Amino acid sequence: MTEIRELLLSRIRDVADYPEPGVMFKDITPLLADPAAFTALTDALAEIAEGTGATKVVGLEARGFILGAPVAVRAGIGFIPVRKAGKLPGATLAQAYDLEYGSAEIEVHAEDLTAEDRVLVVDDVLATGGTAEASVQLIRRAGAEVAGLAVLMELGFLSGRARLEPALNGAPLDAL
Ligand code: PRP
Repeated sequence: MTEIRELLLSRIRDVADYPEPGVMFKDITPLLADPAAFTALTDALAEIAEGTGATKVVGLEARGFILGAPVAVRAGIGFIPVRKAGKLPGATLAQAYDLEYGSAEIEVHAEDLTAEDRVLVVDDVLATGGTAEASVQLIRRAGAEVAGLAVLMELGFLSGRARLEPALNGAPLDAL
C-alpha cells in the first residue's frame, strides 16, 4: 500500500450501526480535520482532474462539495454543485434515481455546463453507484462530456463500479 493510501485510510473512522443498525459508516471528518491528510487527498484528486483534462469539477452533495471544491481551486477550474432536489434557485435539470426503498432526485443549474465542458465528478464514497450514475446522466443531458469519476472510497461489496460501467462509457473511475 502506498504512503498516501495508508495516511488516508488511517484518517477514516468506522462507526458501527450508523445511520441504522447493521451499517458500518465511513466517517471522513478525522481526515478533514488533519491538514496533511486533506492536502494529500486534494492533491491526488487534482492530479486526476488535470490528467483527464477536466474543465469543471462536479461535486455531489454534501461531502462531494467538501472534497470537490478545493480540487477545482487547485486544478484552476470551475466547481459545479449537484444538489438534492429543491436547493438550487435557477433553472435546473433534474435526474431521478432509485434507492433501496423509494427514489431520490438530484439537480444542477442548466447554465453551469456546456458542450465545451469535460467534467470530473468528485465524491467521498462510491456505494451502490446510484448517485454517481444519476450525476453522469445529468452531465450528459446538459450536453457536457464526462471526463471521469474520482472518489476517496469505493465500497467494492456493493458493486457500484459494475453498475456504473455502462454510464461511464469508457471514462475512468478512480478510487483512492
Ligand atoms: C452518500 C455519499 C455518496 C452516496 C453514495 O451521500 O456521500 O454521495 O451516498 O451512495 P450510492 O453510491 O449508493 O449512491 P448521502 O446521500 O448520504 O449524502 P450526504 O453526503 O449529504 O450525507
